[in-house]
Amino acid sequence: MILSAIMMQTPGNIFFRIPDFFILIRPNTPVMTKKVLALFGSNLIGGNTDKLLTQAINGVEDAGCTVERINVAHVNAGPCNQTYSCMVEPTCAIEDGMKDAYRKLRQADGIIIATPVMTYGVPGALKSFMDRCQPFYMAKYYRKQPFITPEHVKIRRTLFICIGGMKDPDIFTGPILTTKAFCAIVDAKYADELLQNDMDTILNVDKKPELLAEAYEKGKALGERIVKMRDGE
Ligand SMILES: Cc1cc2nc3c(=O)[nH]c(=O)nc-3n(C[C@H](O)[C@H](O)[C@H](O)COP(=O)(O)O)c2cc1C
Repeated sequence: MILSAIMMQTPGNIFFRIPDFFILIRPNTPVMTKKVLALFGSNLIGGNTDKLLTQAINGVEDAGCTVERINVAHVNAGPCNQTYSCMVEPTCAIEDGMKDAYRKLRQADGIIIATPVMTYGVPGALKSFMDRCQPFYMAKYYRKQPFITPEHVKIRRTLFICIGGMKDPDIFTGPILTTKAFCAIVDAKYADELLQNDMDTILNVDKKPELLAEAYEKGKALGERIVKMRDGE
């Protein structure tokens, strides 16, 4: 990205005008700190996954972090087209909404993934989003030039929230395996989970305030750890 002009300078702070937004650079301070990226895997705004994610986000914010939420089904992005250009290039050859998502994924101190189970896996849009993170895979495992610094890796953690309609406890096997692979690829350790099956019986998560409270507490714990790690730097 090309910086077009320096707009303002104050002691210790420099504002740059760049094409679509302003950015504040404070010497020796990361551009974005204590930031959690929340990936919403459902397509149903106001549904049960949404309610649990909202609680987790409240917890993260109460701990002192900021949260950016991506409704993955609404990202303007297609599937990986397997040209393998990311073996040599640090980003994806496809020009779409993933460019913005890559930047947010790189900057995040923590990630929350909240999703329903669909066909014993994660919904297609979320799976596609994860597949499109192959540039992280190639950078880390193939070129051995990971995007995430070792110091940042120590901070980055993922909280996984997953619900399914059936009573079968195996419904989480596929989503957990996929999510753990994704966490390894983007270097944000799979650290905590909140799983609830039998949603076809429960129907509305409002009937389980203890589950909503648990989502809040897990979000808060994720946020508190980030604050502790960042402030201890
Ligand atoms: C297309 C589709 C596939 C689903 N597949 C499964 C499944 O394999 N196992 C399961 O337990 N629930 C399955 N479900 C049920 C959802 O996981 C469940 O209803 C969940 O509570 C939906 O969360 P939401 O209210 O956030 O949309 C499926 C739902 C849909 C729409």
